Amino acid sequence: MRSHLLFLASVLFNEAVVQATNNNCIVPHTPNADDSPAIMEVFGRCSVNKTIVFSAGVAYNAWTPMRWTGLSNVNINVKGSLHLPNNITDVQAKVVTAYGTVTPAPWFYIQGTNVHLTGSESDGAGALHGYGQQWWDGMVQKSRPTMVQFNVSHGTISKMKVIKPVAQGFNIPGNNIIIKNHFVDAMPTNGSRDLTASFPFNTDGFNIGGQNITIDGYYGHNGDDCVSIVNKAKNVVAKNGYCGFSSHGLSIGSLGKDGANSQVADIVFDNWVMDNAVYGARFKSWTGGKGLARNITWKNMKLVNVSTPIFITQNYYDQNKGPRPNNTEGTSTKVQDFHFENFKGDINPNYTDGTCISNPCWNWVDGINGTQGIIFDLYEGTATGLQVKNFHVHPYQQGYEKTTVICDPATLAAGEQDTLGFKCQNGPFVETSIAS
Ligand SMILES: *[C@@H]1O[C@H](CO)[C@@H](O)[C@H](O)[C@H]1NC(C)=O
Ligand SMILES: *[C@@H]1O[C@H](CO)[C@@H](O)[C@H](O)[C@H]1NC(C)=O
Ligand SMILES: *[C@@H]1O[C@H](CO)[C@@H](O)[C@H](O)[C@H]1NC(C)=O
Ligand SMILES: *[C@@H]1O[C@H](CO)[C@@H](O)[C@H](O)[C@H]1NC(C)=O
Ligand SMILES: *[C@@H]1O[C@H](CO)[C@@H](O)[C@H](O)[C@H]1NC(C)=O
Ligand SMILES: *[C@@H]1O[C@H](CO)[C@@H](O)[C@H](O)[C@H]1NC(C)=O
Ligand SMILES: *[C@@H]1O[C@H](CO)[C@@H](O)[C@H](O)[C@H]1NC(C)=O
Ligand SMILES: *[C@@H]1O[C@H](CO)[C@@H](O)[C@H](O)[C@H]1NC(C)=O
Ligand SMILES: *[C@@H]1O[C@H](CO)[C@@H](O)[C@H](O)[C@H]1NC(C)=O
Ligand SMILES: *[C@@H]1O[C@H](CO)[C@@H](O)[C@H](O)[C@H]1NC(C)=O
Repeated sequence: MRSHLLFLASVLFNEAVVQATNNNCIVPHTPNADDSPAIMEVFGRCSVNKTIVFSAGVAYNAWTPMRWTGLSNVNINVKGSLHLPNNITDVQAKVVTAYGTVTPAPWFYIQGTNVHLTGSESDGAGALHGYGQQWWDGMVQKSRPTMVQFNVSHGTISKMKVIKPVAQGFNIPGNNIIIKNHFVDAMPTNGSRDLTASFPFNTDGFNIGGQNITIDGYYGHNGDDCVSIVNKAKNVVAKNGYCGFSSHGLSIGSLGKDGANSQVADIVFDNWVMDNAVYGARFKSWTGGKGLARNITWKNMKLVNVSTPIFITQNYYDQNKGPRPNNTEGTSTKVQDFHFENFKGDINPNYTDGTCISNPCWNWVDGINGTQGIIFDLYEGTATGLQVKNFHVHPYQQGYEKTTVICDPATLAAGEQDTLGFKCQNGPFVETSIAS
C-alpha cells in the first residue's frame, strides 16, 4: 500500500514538474552576443498558454527590433533586464531595416490577447534600457525607436521600468489594459530643464490610442508628455502619478494634424503631481483639424513650478515655419465637456524649457509672462462645456491675486461664460460662479 502511495505521489510530482517546465519558457542568454534570435525562438514556441521568463540577474542583449505577435494567454515575466544596442548608428540602421520611416518604430512590438507583461520592484529588474543619453547629448533625432508598442487586447503591464529611452516609451493602441506602477527614467545625467543640450526630446511616458485602459501608479522623469492621449482613445483613466524633470503634461493630442478627423472620449486624469512641468493639463489640436474630443476630466492636480497649469489650443501650428496656415474650410477639432477640478500649486516664471530651439518657441503665446494659470486658445464657438473649479494656483513667490489668464471672450460659444468658472479675458484670474 505504502509503495503504491509513493508511486502515486511520484507520478503526481513528476507530472507537476513536467507541467511547470512545459508552461515556463526560460529565455536563454549568451554573453556578448545578440540574444534576439533566441528570444524570437522562445516567443514562437511559447506563444499560447505559457509563461516566458527573462531570468533574474540576467542582462539580455536585445540587439534587434522584435515583434512578439500572435500571443494568447501569455505571461511575460521580466525578472532581469533587456538592453538595446549601446550604439546609435547600429540602432538607426536596424530601425530603418525594420520600419523604414514609418512611426512609431517600436523596438519591442507585442501583439495578442490576454498578455501580461510583468516587471519587478527589485532594483535593476523589470527594466528596458535604451541608452538614450548619448542620443540626447548629440541631439540625434533620426530613426529613433519607440521602446514598446503594446497592441494587446486584454492585458496588463505592471512594475515595468523604462530606463534612458531613446525617445517614446510605451505606445498603446490596444484595449482592455491595466497598467500598474510604471517607472520612467528619461532624465539626462548632466542636463537640466532649461538647457537644450542633453535634453531628452520626445521621451513621452505613454501614448494611448486604445480603449478601456487604466494607468494606476506612475513615477517618472522625462522631457515630453507623461501621458498623451491620441486619436481613437476612449475610456481611459490615468491616476496616481508623479511627473518630474520637464514634463509636457497630461495631454490630449495632438489631434487633427493635416486636417485629420480625430476622436477622443471619456478620459480621466486623477491625482497627479506635476513637478517643473511645462504644462499640467493640456489639449492640443492643429489649426484646420476636424473631429471631437469629449468628456475629459483633469482633477486633483498638484503643480510644483509648472509653466502653464491649464492649456488648451485648437489652433496649433509650427510657429517657426511662418504665419498660421489658412484654415480655408474653417474647421477645428471640437472640444466638449472638459472639466478641470482641484488644481493647487505654483507657476514657473519660464513658460518654456530646453525644447525651445526656434524663434518663436514652439509653445510661445502672445502675452505669456510667467503668471498665466490658464491659457485657452479656442477656435471660435467650437468649445462647449468647459469648466474650471477650485483652481488655487499662484505665480512663484507671488500672491494668488497675481495669477492671470489668457482667454479671448470672442471665441467662447454662446452661454459658455456662465458655466466656465472664471472670467474669460486677457488679465487677472477671476473666479466666477457656475450656473447650474
Ligand atoms: C490554451 O488554454 C485554453 C484554455 O485553457 C485551452 O482551451 C486551449 O486548448 C489551450 N491551447 C493550447 C494550444 O494549449
Ligand atoms: C556601431 O554600429 C555600426 C553599425 O552597425 C558599426 O559599424 C560600428 O562599428 C559600431 N560601433 C561600435 C563602437 O561598436
Ligand atoms: C493591432 O493588432 C490588430 C490585430 O489584433 C491589428 O488589426 C492592428 O492593425 C494592430 N494595430 C497596430 C497599430 O499595430
Ligand atoms: C553632457 O555630456 C555630454 C558628453 O560629454 C556632452 O555632449 C553634453 O553636451 C553634456 N550636456 C550638458 C548639458 O552639458
Ligand atoms: C527659459 O528657458 C529657455 C529655454 O530653456 C531659456 O533659454 C531661457 O533662458 C529661460 N528664461 C529664463 C528667464 O529663465
Ligand atoms: C470597453 O469596455 C466596454 C464596457 O466594458 C465594452 O462594452 C467595450 O466593448 C470595450 N471596448 C473594447 C474596444 O474592448
Ligand atoms: C464621461 O467619462 C466618464 C469616465 O470615463 C464616464 O464614467 C461617464 O459616463 C462619461 N460621461 C458621458 C456623458 O459620456
Ligand atoms: C488666406 O486666405 C485668404 C483668403 O482666401 C487670402 O487672402 C490670404 O492671402 C491667404 N493667406 C495665406 C497665408 O495663405
Ligand atoms: C522653477 O523653474 C525655473 C525654470 O526652470 C527655475 O529657474 C527655478 O529655479 C524653479 N524654481 C523652483 C523653486 O524650483
Ligand atoms: C502678464 O500678462 C497679463 C495678461 O495676460 C497681465 O494682466 C499682467 O499684468 C502681466 N504681468 C506682468 C508681470 O507682466
